[in-house]
Amino acid sequence: MNSPLPLGEMSLDTFLRDYWQKKPLVIRNAIADFQSPIDANELAGLACEAEVESRLIAFNADDDQWHMEQGPFEEARFTSLPEKNWTLLVQAVDHWVPEAHALLRQFNFIPNWRLDDLMISFAVQGGGVGPHYDNYDVFLIQTQGIRRWEFGGSFDEHSPRRDDAPVMILPEWKAETSVELAPGDILYLPPGIGHNGVAITDDCITCSVGFRAPATHEMLRSFTDEIGEQLGHDQRYEDPDLAESKDPGCITEEALNRAHNMLLTLIEDKDRFREWFGRFVTEPKYPDQEIDADEDVTEDALLDFLASDGELFINEGSRVSWAKAQSGIYLFADGHSFHLTTPNAISLAKHLCHYDPLSSQVIDVADAQSIRLICALLKQGLLYSNSP
Ligand code: SIN
Ligand code: CO
Repeated sequence: MNSPLPLGEMSLDTFLRDYWQKKPLVIRNAIADFQSPIDANELAGLACEAEVESRLIAFNADDDQWHMEQGPFEEARFTSLPEKNWTLLVQAVDHWVPEAHALLRQFNFIPNWRLDDLMISFAVQGGGVGPHYDNYDVFLIQTQGIRRWEFGGSFDEHSPRRDDAPVMILPEWKAETSVELAPGDILYLPPGIGHNGVAITDDCITCSVGFRAPATHEMLRSFTDEIGEQLGHDQRYEDPDLAESKDPGCITEEALNRAHNMLLTLIEDKDRFREWFGRFVTEPKYPDQEIDADEDVTEDALLDFLASDGELFINEGSRVSWAKAQSGIYLFADGHSFHLTTPNAISLAKHLCHYDPLSSQVIDVADAQSIRLICALLKQGLLYSNSP
């Protein structure tokens, strides 16, 4: 059974039509009986791990200065913090904590490729990251304790910001609206809206469901880099029908059109674009992070494993999506693409995109393409098994 959407009483249609990417929304009791996916000690423990991205942000009211330290932290750092005005923020907790991943999946009414991560913050009274805006949509889920959120106004890269702070602080920002959120309440903010969250209690935990949207300049660079690598050096501008030029200094419209069309033809190749786009938007958040891959797995070993009721799980930190191809579909996983054409391989790939476990219940062991796909995913460390 599907669990209810984390939108309280609001329907998804209303949310998407009136709020998504349009305006802020406070949803009281958005998630009924909400349980925190992590406690403060576990969060501090994660911030001590080398592969986890974390920050401590503190404000000193005496000299009006903001301070930031990047993790990983020594455990002792957490015993030498002031009583007030600091917060610990840990990025991508969904990669490490299954409960945090399950919370992030509740927001799958937005496509996988638009979801970024679940960031979790802990703050003592007065703690927060200051008035700022984000480039992406965010659902701020009050998880434990009380936080006051002030928000309003639209900002962008040209808005003034403090130049003496290690984090973005909008000096001219004024709150239009102020609310106090309790556990289970959510504040949704579209990109560019100024906001400032201040912990009211000493045990404040907030989970942020963050989204991503590729920037046009990033897409253009990545797509053209890829095409550039695929094209041979011999493919060049040609003008066998060159007409006599009246002025050697002039780049004629004919020359311009010919060069323009050379590039347009490449961009208009929808299949090439589709495959690049899927790989681009599923690139891992931390591409340099080592993953535990089963490089030696064989198809026979996989078949034995499935015959003995083994289950396979997709890495919580992996990004997966699929798109229609001219025949069958493409599965995109952590920047790789797989072209699939058999009914079982296609349904398997779609199943995987829901982050559901795989077993012989859903894998047709007689379908060679499905078995090849699972082996390839195991070899790339995208799947792990429950075997010892
Ligand atoms: C937080 O302090 O938990 C959220 C930070 C933000 O406003 O993006
Ligand atoms: Co923010």
